[in-house]
Amino acid sequence: MDFKELILSKKILWKIVFIGLVIILIWFLLFKSESVDQNQKEFMKQKETPLAGNSSIILPQPNKDSQTSIEETLQKRRSVRDYQDEPLTLKEVSQILWAAQGITSDWGGRTAPSAGALYPLEVCLVVRKVADISPGVYRYLPEGHQLERIVENDVSSQLARAALSQNFIKEAPVNLIFSGVFSRTTKKYGERGIGYVYLEAGHAAQNVYLQVQSLGLGTVVVGAFDDEEIKKILNLADDEAPFYIMPVGRKR
Ligand SMILES: Cc1cc2nc3c(=O)[nH]c(=O)nc-3n(C[C@H](O)[C@H](O)[C@H](O)COP(=O)(O)O)c2cc1C
Repeated sequence: MDFKELILSKKILWKIVFIGLVIILIWFLLFKSESVDQNQKEFMKQKETPLAGNSSIILPQPNKDSQTSIEETLQKRRSVRDYQDEPLTLKEVSQILWAAQGITSDWGGRTAPSAGALYPLEVCLVVRKVADISPGVYRYLPEGHQLERIVENDVSSQLARAALSQNFIKEAPVNLIFSGVFSRTTKKYGERGIGYVYLEAGHAAQNVYLQVQSLGLGTVVVGAFDDEEIKKILNLADDEAPFYIMPVGRKR
């Protein structure tokens, strides 16, 4: 091959590489916009269809910033037990659940820390009054930021009775319940893992306190209740222990 041919073949090679890159770029752009479209379509479908009767709800995307500083939120956080009889919006519920256990990293890291990133916590939502959601019990699925219905009727009154008749529970439009599956953590850390799971419930509950304060709503952690009763009402698995009830509503 003489010098001229060599230059020519190099030029052809560069052309092939360039065309290849352009094809990859076009394919990437098409694929990306298609998957975004797909997400949007799915969300719009959820918005268009009446949610009553749906067993799975894709929540609106949570906000990642606000006008309230963390210092102001800490200064103002207080337990609130007196709520207006007003519904929460789907957006507010989405924001609170995200604060509790939302996914915030590519590898699955969440808003609250977790020993060994094993995520033993579960969050249930008892809905009495939320715009666009039927009353019932839902489980929060951090993957996909979704709710899945597990009980079809409003159980707020039963929940209040199981919590030594703390009646503000049945007056709140929603209640979050934190529970934990110990084996997810003890399989790595043995007996010490039991304490870790309780500590994690504290982290997640504090996230909810702060998020709720930042939204101008009110909440309180409730630890006084009959574990077995709560498990029955919420249909929890045998190896799942309830830790906290957090009623949330608009402050009176
Ligand atoms: C582990 C724990 C359990 C609690 N259980 C209840 C409860 O069952 N009912 C209730 O009304 N408040 C409960 N609280 C909330 C406390 O009463 C409240 O945090 C305390 O009065 C301090 O008020 P503050 O949260 O406004 O600072 C509990 C708090 C903690 C940390």
